[in-house]
Amino acid sequence: MKRQVALLVNGEEYDVEIEPNRLLLHALREDIGLTGTKEGCSIGVCGACSVIVDGRLVSSCLTLAVACERKPITTIEGLAADGKLHPLQQAFLEYGGLQCGICTPGQIIAAKALLDENPRPSEEEVREWMSGNLCRCTGYYKIFEAVMAVVNNKITGEYLASRKRQEAKIQSLDVYKAESKTT
Ligand code: FES
Ligand code: FES
Repeated sequence: MKRQVALLVNGEEYDVEIEPNRLLLHALREDIGLTGTKEGCSIGVCGACSVIVDGRLVSSCLTLAVACERKPITTIEGLAADGKLHPLQQAFLEYGGLQCGICTPGQIIAAKALLDENPRPSEEEVREWMSGNLCRCTGYYKIFEAVMAVVNNKITGEYLASRKRQEAKIQSLDVYKAESKTT
């Protein structure tokens, strides 16, 4: 039986009526219409469907949408702000870290999850973290270079400012204000 679920995606609240076994990937793409998150392998291996839920990188093809109710979800559509690309998006463009675009949203989201946790990872940490995202066309070096460009502030140097703006947007959601009044 379907139930009403509030999904907080990129700072917006979406009320969707879904089956309890609806995958987050399909809820995002088909119920909400955010098609930037891609479906690759469908079995949790390729990373194309990566999104950030409550600060953690998850494969949306393995995650039930109901389990994400009222948790902040970030998809690729939520990264650009104020008419400007996110530094990671800019870096992927500048360093040629993309071709077909099926894997690219997941690559960028994975890199964001890493830099949110650790803004200055080592080269080894970046390589290891990004190894969960597969790409069949561009090779991995340009992707690695793009991520390292952000780590080394070779793009805009404003990664942390962009993260703070996004956190402020999430905290300003009405649902959070309502929760803080009742607790
Ligand atoms: S589509 Fe989810 S990991 Fe490949
Ligand atoms: S650019 Fe990644 S699979 Fe093509």
